[in-house]
Amino acid sequence: MQKLIIRGGARAGGEISVQGAKNSALPLLAGCLLAGGETVLHNCPELSDVFAACRILSCLGCKCTFRDNTVTVDSTVITDCQVPDGLMREMRSSIVFLGAVLGRTGECRLTFPGGCELGPRPIDMHLAALKQMGARITEDHGYLCCTCPRGLKGTKITLSFPSVGTTENIILAAVLAEGETVIYNAAREPEICDLAGFLNLCGARIKGCGSGTVSIEGVKKLHGCEYSVMPDRIAAATLMAAAAATGGELGLLNARSGDLQSVIPVFEEMGCGVFPYKDRIFISCKKPLRAVKTLRTMPYPGFPTDAQAVVMAALTKAEGTSVIVENIFENRYRHVDELIRMGADIKTEGKVAVIEGVGSLYGANVRASDLRGGAALAVAAMGAHGETCLENVRFIDRGYESIEKTLNRIGGNVRRIQS
Ligand code: UD1
Repeated sequence: MQKLIIRGGARAGGEISVQGAKNSALPLLAGCLLAGGETVLHNCPELSDVFAACRILSCLGCKCTFRDNTVTVDSTVITDCQVPDGLMREMRSSIVFLGAVLGRTGECRLTFPGGCELGPRPIDMHLAALKQMGARITEDHGYLCCTCPRGLKGTKITLSFPSVGTTENIILAAVLAEGETVIYNAAREPEICDLAGFLNLCGARIKGCGSGTVSIEGVKKLHGCEYSVMPDRIAAATLMAAAAATGGELGLLNARSGDLQSVIPVFEEMGCGVFPYKDRIFISCKKPLRAVKTLRTMPYPGFPTDAQAVVMAALTKAEGTSVIVENIFENRYRHVDELIRMGADIKTEGKVAVIEGVGSLYGANVRASDLRGGAALAVAAMGAHGETCLENVRFIDRGYESIEKTLNRIGGNVRRIQS
């Protein structure tokens, strides 16, 4: 088990490049399966979830290498259509392999996905959509057995909620399906547009990403391509939160302000100056932080649930009372009790959290229990007096490339130790 020892108090400063997006890299890697040739993905973050996706590709018969943030996948030959249980349990996004494997081979066997525990995370919408496209899905000793005896067929699918993973799964399944698939109430997240951009470069015909209605005209075959994963908007928001929590100033390189349209105003409301310029964002948080009125997490373009915890960490020090309403996941306040150990004043009831600013936090022994909640504890520790011992770093490693190096580069004092 690894821990981070974080000595807080220094103001964040300097310039740092934002890593490639985990939530884009994973569906792109599933998409490589459809290419049927060699695909090169640059700017791929070096993360345990990315390695798990590469292991899934290898199990299915692809040749997959990772070097200097570039993944090369050769999917010319697929030898298997079963994703091993251990890899399915390792991360929830392994479910996007269902649409890709089914689209490529016409059959797929996998178990229910694992991942961070953020409350119930069913896959009913994924399965219903694939059934609408002609998939036959049965359960056998914990395995989902999916076949499409007559091939996948394009159809019109209306989602009851704009689920990110479901939209990705349908796109992946539809690219090689017969005819046109239209998704109404599709998720509009930038990662969906990144997936469509990548698949279109491989020869797919996908239109409307980002608009809520996505149409995919099936093609007979794709080919490999070279592509660069988009910058990680949640990693950018985390760095902005670190600047806010420490009263610092940061220049973020390789950051897309357009993807952060609902996040930037929150930092401005807190009293930070945010200045986007081309692919950079400069944030200055020299003034005392102010509370924000009500922050509601929503599907994109609303405020992202993945940035809720890190922004909360900064708000613990803001003057006044802030309110957060978590609308996407039921169990996404697991970091709250740990922040309270550091001196924060937070009360939660159901989906609502009320944060009374305390002026300063102090270091404590705390434990990450999910990815973004773990990052929030690291942000809080950066802005706290004294030393924090942050356990369960493995959760943070799922989404942040070497967090200790990143935080040290912006002026932090962070060590990783084996316990
Ligand atoms: C993705 C992101 C995750 C982010 C989330 C919301 C990846 C790898 N993960 O997760 O970081 O927090 O979007 O922005 O991209 N739901 C159902 N049935 C389904 C599918 C979803 O009820 O079949 C519910 C979920 O329980 C949840 C909500 O819909 O309450 C949102 O889920 P979804 O948008 O699908 O999130 P993920 O794709 O799992």
